[in-house]
Amino acid sequence: MHPAAIRRLSELAPRKIVYVSCNPEALAEELPQFRDYQLGSVALFDMFPQTPHFEAVVELTPRSPVAPGKVPFIEMPQVNPGQDPGARQHPQTHVMRLTTNPGLENVVVEETRRLFPTARLTPRPGGIQAQVLFEYEIDKPVQSEQASGEWVVKRLQGLGAVHRVISHLCHFTVGRDSETPAHIAERLSELEVPGLAAADSFRVTTERTGNQEFRSELVQRAVGAMLVRRYDKPVKLDEPALELRVDVLERHCLVGVDHGPAAPPHRQARVFQPRITLNSVVAYAMLHVTGLLRNREADITLLDPFLGSGTILVEAGAQLPNAALHGIEIDPTTAAGARTNIEAAGLTHRTTIQRADARLLSQRVAADSIDCIVTNPPFGVRMGKNTDFGALYRDLLREFSVVLRPNATVALLVGKRRYLFLESIQARSDFELCGSTLIETAGVFPELFVLRYHS
Ligand SMILES: C[S@@+](CC[C@H](N)C(=O)[O-])C[C@H]1O[C@@H](n2cnc3c(N)ncnc32)[C@H](O)[C@@H]1O
Repeated sequence: MHPAAIRRLSELAPRKIVYVSCNPEALAEELPQFRDYQLGSVALFDMFPQTPHFEAVVELTPRSPVAPGKVPFIEMPQVNPGQDPGARQHPQTHVMRLTTNPGLENVVVEETRRLFPTARLTPRPGGIQAQVLFEYEIDKPVQSEQASGEWVVKRLQGLGAVHRVISHLCHFTVGRDSETPAHIAERLSELEVPGLAAADSFRVTTERTGNQEFRSELVQRAVGAMLVRRYDKPVKLDEPALELRVDVLERHCLVGVDHGPAAPPHRQARVFQPRITLNSVVAYAMLHVTGLLRNREADITLLDPFLGSGTILVEAGAQLPNAALHGIEIDPTTAAGARTNIEAAGLTHRTTIQRADARLLSQRVAADSIDCIVTNPPFGVRMGKNTDFGALYRDLLREFSVVLRPNATVALLVGKRRYLFLESIQARSDFELCGSTLIETAGVFPELFVLRYHS
């Protein structure tokens, strides 16, 4: 089933889904994508005796019941953006929307909570993926730097698991068929956009998920034209002074001022970016789930045996100032590219890169020398049908067990055939499965597994 179909089915929020499949392997891949549903029952039916075919029937029920056909309610406080900040009364609430990859919402919550212990954080408000709602109340005079919106935004932009920080302005539900870009523009015709009166230029950006009849550009154009009339400011597509987000996510329209990508210098410095490059936000989340970021100053040794362009090591280097970093990569061009990225990030002095096969890792890396493996083996999307993933995972676990120290952690992404990976772990007694979460990155749905190694 196409991921968009799974999203749409989940959004319709039926009380029960009965999924009949003649391909149990595909079914096993897809079931975790029904995030809000749990397995009720499973049965196999031999509909065509004397043939190798059978039907798998699964019953899925909601994890927390939602009335059928109802759009989940997003509890978002009213913001009065037109008010002059100097005239605001205390307490003052900053309401922001933080975006991330689907599946990493809880990483954002945990990371943000450390910086803002009193903030109210809602992962996936109204069931919308890849969003975290941040509400932070400050009871200080606005003159204090720590009460200013800019200070809050700047700190949020430093978060590793966040793509964008958006000051939330308003939210409304988009009707199923009747809503058009013109209606959306009309509903926003009274909206005060803070900062737009003083800005030289602006642009409207729309992210859209769901099966609306219209395209994102039409929303951008309709809302943009309305704001040009109201504010008499020009639209500038490249580097505008202000960016208004009008996102239509399933049946929600979420509007806010986008403060731009959270892009720390080590992420901008990357020179070599092949197609396989992992998103830095995902790399950060992988480091986060290992628990390593709780003690950033520790002297540890971290290995990525499927180095690619080196995203994981670059992120680890920035987050863990005392870590020794090792990378293994089989492809010579990619290994050379990774070296350039490591150099651009200023990490050459504490990084080694070897051209080798990860399946023979123990020939290159000393036994009992690694505290943590964080890696992104090929997902299998472009690998031939005959690739033996069972053998790959078995080989990797065998090699990991040689180089890892007792109590070491492993975080890795597994694309297709995650059940083969689980079988490989179950076949061993030295790896404990600590947790897993399904994520979305670049249109694929790998699962992020965390293991602990016990010798
Ligand atoms: C999914 S990519 C890793 C992407 C990386 N995280 C990045 O951000 O660029 C997997 C990498 O593993 C490499 N690779 C594939 N099989 C390998 C093997 N047996 N040993 C070592 N590297 C391998 C591929 O050449 C590719 O660069």
